[in-house]
Amino acid sequence: MGFEQAWLSYQRREVCGIAENITGIYAPLQNPVIKSGAEELQTAFAKIVGTRPVLYSDSECGHNRGSIRLMMKEGLPTEGYHIFEEKGMITVEASDANGILYGAFELIRCLQLGKNLEGINLTKEPVMPLRMLNHWDNMDGSIERGYSGNSFFFENDEILVNERIVTYARLLASAGINATVINNVNVKDSATRLITDQYFESLNRLSEIFARYGIRLFLSLNYAAPMELLELDSADPLDDRVRAWWKAKMKVVFEAVPNLGGFLIKADSEGRPGPFTYNRTHADGANMLAEAVKPYGGLIIWRCFVYNCRQDWRDRKTDRARSGYDNFIGLDGTFLDNVILQIKNGPMDFQVREPVHPLFGGLTKTNQMLEVQIAQEYTGQQRHVCYLIPMFKEILNFHTYVKGTDDTVQDIVSGRTFHQTKCGIAAVANTGNDENWTGHDLAAANLYGFGRLAYEPDLTAEEIAEEWITLTYGKDEEIRKELLFILMNSWPAYEKYTAPLGIGWMVNPNCHYGPSVDGYEYDRWGTYHRADHLGIGVDRSHNGTGYAMLYREPNARAYDTPETCPEELLLFFHHVPYSFVLKSGRTILQHIYDTHFEGVELVDEMVSRYERLKGKLPERIYERTMERFLHQKEHSREWRDQINTYFYRKTGIADEKGRRIY
Ligand code: GCU
Repeated sequence: MGFEQAWLSYQRREVCGIAENITGIYAPLQNPVIKSGAEELQTAFAKIVGTRPVLYSDSECGHNRGSIRLMMKEGLPTEGYHIFEEKGMITVEASDANGILYGAFELIRCLQLGKNLEGINLTKEPVMPLRMLNHWDNMDGSIERGYSGNSFFFENDEILVNERIVTYARLLASAGINATVINNVNVKDSATRLITDQYFESLNRLSEIFARYGIRLFLSLNYAAPMELLELDSADPLDDRVRAWWKAKMKVVFEAVPNLGGFLIKADSEGRPGPFTYNRTHADGANMLAEAVKPYGGLIIWRCFVYNCRQDWRDRKTDRARSGYDNFIGLDGTFLDNVILQIKNGPMDFQVREPVHPLFGGLTKTNQMLEVQIAQEYTGQQRHVCYLIPMFKEILNFHTYVKGTDDTVQDIVSGRTFHQTKCGIAAVANTGNDENWTGHDLAAANLYGFGRLAYEPDLTAEEIAEEWITLTYGKDEEIRKELLFILMNSWPAYEKYTAPLGIGWMVNPNCHYGPSVDGYEYDRWGTYHRADHLGIGVDRSHNGTGYAMLYREPNARAYDTPETCPEELLLFFHHVPYSFVLKSGRTILQHIYDTHFEGVELVDEMVSRYERLKGKLPERIYERTMERFLHQKEHSREWRDQINTYFYRKTGIADEKGRRIY
């Protein structure tokens, strides 16, 4: 399938004098990453300004008006850059090639945003060391939780290496992303063989394309590979044969694919194999692999999404929310230095609202990474619009109280809190081989936004949205205004018309799309709302599962009582009667009714605002996006009516405002 250029479409713009006069780009082109930056500038100038500057391979000669110099300079922060203009000459300097590449993209962004380059003087550095995508792509071409077509990495058990991969790498680099995992964390069948010579050649070619854009390739690993490749009868991490097998294996892998960054592992989770089989800990498992990849500078990124997925719904003691914490907190400080624990943003699974995972602030001696999901598994599957950057910002800004200062999630995963360099943020990717990459055109704001947020988390969600809108659709006040309204209201709207007050789920099992209030209520997955005719919510206070007590004070105390618990999380932490009165003066029940009507009204407003852009946006884009909006309009009504009706039937209490409930 063909593909578009997303926010790199480089449309013609009005630009100021300096940009118009650029005729040459001087750069050490022997460095492939810098060369990518120089070539990108050349393309962007040609398309945006209409002049095609010539590339020269010596940055020293370019001391003249009308030139751009890309130069290495010691002393600047890793992957950061300094851009300045002097006498009509623009310089981008950095202490490493990635910094220069990001500086080049920043310069292009300035052009796209119509900024004046005269007197430009800015210095930036990335806040998160690792800024990573996790693709859940399978080798048959399907994508687990993929909502934008099939994989562009795999087809029929083969790896694809083509032009689309280059554009993918450019898109990532332009947003500041520096690492990617291309295969699903659930590693099965052929994917287990990615670490055999069957795939080395294409993996290496792929990794070389990525490397030209400063991106490191990672793979998801099957913990039981020695057994599934039929070479050993055990995967016990303390068995010398197993340890030797991994060492030998990693030697071969890294020799064949030297650009490889390391591996992501899902172990002992949802049926995947892991060290528990041998009564070993996750530290035993992770450290065995870490030792094997260490000689090659490799990283082991070990996921903390470990829980019992065979629960009994009758059991009120076992709490899935506790499991990540309970499984890992005792291992703090026992992981080798090249292991990073990757922790989902919340304790459950990417719901529209969850508290921050208590391992953040719990762990103090372990490298940590935050995992978010831009694939909208539980937030409308890229058929509903749901701009997630505001949610990610709330998560990053959460105070864990692990220290007196520098205690937010952002501080922890940027390495500031514990002076670490192996940390960062990963997003489960929302791309596929659809023409527009993300299914819903507006979902591309999450892909772009994730990268920008990881590089510069101090940008506001609005700033990121505005950038994306202008980069993608050009500088137009009406487009900016309407799309900004839509994006910024989309997460609040989705939260209003789906599961209320932090309780989550209420979706159709398996596909996780569309309302089913009791869909997971009597299932084995540990995801219950416990609604009866009197009340709703899960008691996670000290009287209940004790989950609230996993946080540091004052968070634990605040979460522990319904009166002090943040209302948006009330039902996550407490079982309360429908008559419980919120700060708004409304009861829980009335709040549910009201927000569900409000959510749908907000969708209607978003759709009518989008309609105003007819004739302004390219017709194709307008039409295919409108199709999704019309679905969202209907589907949000389905959510509203099913949820309201459910609670009306449970309680027999009518809506105070007399609106239609079935
Ligand atoms: C969710 C998702 C699965 C995925 C899992 C994970 O449960 O529904 O498809 O494999 O998360 O993060 O590993």
